[in-house]
Amino acid sequence: MLNKTINILPEGNSLHAIFNPLDIQRVLQNLIINAGYVTESEGKVDIRIVRNDGFLKVSVTDKGCGIPGDVQKFLFKDTLTTKKGGNGLGLLSCKGIVEENHQGKLWFKTEVGKGTTFHFTLPDL
Ligand SMILES: Nc1ncnc2c1ncn2[C@@H]1O[C@H](COP(=O)(O)OP(=O)(O)O)[C@@H](O)[C@H]1O
Ligand SMILES: [Mg+2]
Repeated sequence: MLNKTINILPEGNSLHAIFNPLDIQRVLQNLIINAGYVTESEGKVDIRIVRNDGFLKVSVTDKGCGIPGDVQKFLFKDTLTTKKGGNGLGLLSCKGIVEENHQGKLWFKTEVGKGTTFHFTLPDL
């Protein structure tokens, strides 16, 4: 993440949720590392946190290469990686942590050549 900027942009105040900090730290770490990996030097990764009708929504946005359709299909199903030394466990375990352990949702929007946003929600207090 050398030379890359991470912006954390909470909207509104009183952001409260019940979560396991170590688990959610792992989720954020993986999403931010994935985003940083496809971000050019001096580029930015944006992190937004917004309160949304009973949920907190955290979004990690990059302007990287996007995720092609053939990779998208396997993201949450398999231990797929396109990285040398990657193990592909990241997104699969992120999905499990958020959806099975925290009653949240984790999903993404991506456009090849434009970038990707991963969103996840946590129930609000
Ligand atoms: N923000 C992103 N932009 C482009 N491709 C991504 C992004 N996040 C994940 N990917 C793709 O999904 C694959 C799986 O990611 P992940 O499960 O975190 O495993 P790993 O990071 O070990 O490869 C990555 O290898 C990469 O091809
Ligand atoms: Mg990863």
